Order: sequence, then structure tokens, then C-alpha cells
Amino acid sequence: MADRPQRLVIAITGATGAVYGVRLLQHLRNIEGVETHLVISDAAVLTLHQETGLQRKEVEALAHVVHKQNNIGASIASGSFQADGMVIAPCSMKTLASVAHGLSDNLIARAADVMLKERRRLILMVRETPFNLAHLRNMTAVTEMGGIIFPPLPSFYHQPQSIDDMVDHTVARVIDLFGLCHNLAPRWNGMNP
Ligand SMILES: Cc1cc2nc3c(=O)[nH]c(=O)nc-3n(C[C@H](O)[C@H](O)[C@H](O)COP(=O)(O)O)c2cc1C
Repeated sequence: MADRPQRLVIAITGATGAVYGVRLLQHLRNIEGVETHLVISDAAVLTLHQETGLQRKEVEALAHVVHKQNNIGASIASGSFQADGMVIAPCSMKTLASVAHGLSDNLIARAADVMLKERRRLILMVRETPFNLAHLRNMTAVTEMGGIIFPPLPSFYHQPQSIDDMVDHTVARVIDLFGLCHNLAPRWNGMNP
């Protein structure tokens, strides 16, 4: 057993799909030994309200530690702070571009930059459609630097019955990437005869 919690940075940016960030926080809260550090972008405050009806404070209450987008002096802005990984859920094309070009122009982009330089796990749940060449090149750049591009694309083989089923299946796959135990969504055990 580690002598400290597994620390995960969760950023919610202004792409559609704010529910992915919310569900991720809700599920991580139920996993023992995980400490979440949350940053919500200004644009995400709008999408959260538009898409889920939730106010900033309600979402922040799901996290263990909350940081402001412009607080570049926050713990997670430094590689010496022992954070284990980061998920941007969802990730806008603007934040993708900032990460791809190492801009560190706000705390989300800086924390992501720290993950890449420290060779820690960084997952970008990028969301846009269709993609232009800048989006595609930025995704390639982040992949080349070791980040994981994880667009929240629904799957159907598990026969989802609701939007919640679809969202949870995707969130479960993200949590899998950190090796955490959970029972969120059914796993594929081979085709039914
Ligand atoms: C309702 C709504 C939906 C949006 N959906 C997307 C989207 O799916 N992908 C995207 O890249 N930007 C989307 N945007 C635009 C971003 O919010 C905008 O580019 C913003 O500057 C992103 O800033 P952030 O990355 O700091 O959150 C959307 C904006 C609104 C208001």
C-alpha cells in the first residue's frame, strides 16, 4: 500500500461532453486511495451549466482539491508535486492546441505540460467533429510526446440502454488506463454463442 494517495488531475474544458468530467469525478470518488485535483476552465463553466444544469460549485464539490484556472502557482503546476496522472475530460481543440505547442498559458495547459515532461500519464478526451488539419496535427504532436488521445466515442457492443451507460463505458476505459479497480461497466468476455 502506498503511503500517499494516487493523485489524479482532472480538467474540464469547454468542449461539449462536460458530463464525462462529472462522471469521472463521481466514479473516482468511490475508489479508495484516489485524490482528485480539479481545474474547470471558464468555458467549461458554461458548457457544464448548458449540458448538465450543474453550477461550478456543485462540480467542484466532487473533487478532493480544487484549483483555479489562472492559479499558475498551484501545486499541480510543478513537477515536484507528486501527481500521478491527468485527464482532460472533455478536451477542447483550444486546450489541445495549447498542450501540443507547450504553451502552458493557464493551469490546465501547464499541468498537462508537467505530465508530459515528467513522463506521467496524460489523457486528452478530445472532442470536435469534423477535425481540421490543425486538430489532427495537434493530436499527432501530443501522441508523439507520450500523451494519449482518447476521444469519447461511444461503443455499442455492450448494448447500452441509456446515455448514462454509454458515458460510463467510456469513463470506465479511462479509469482502466490508470490500473484502478472498478466495476463500472461490463467487460467483453467473448461473443455470445
Ligand atoms: C455549447 C458549446 C459547445 C462547444 N463544443 C466544443 C467542442 O465540442 N469542441 C471544441 O473544441 N470546442 C467547443 N466549444 C468551444 C470552446 O468552448 C472554446 O473554444 C473555448 O475557448 C475553449 O476554451 P477552454 O479550452 O479553455 O475550455 C464549445 C462551446 C460551447 C459554448
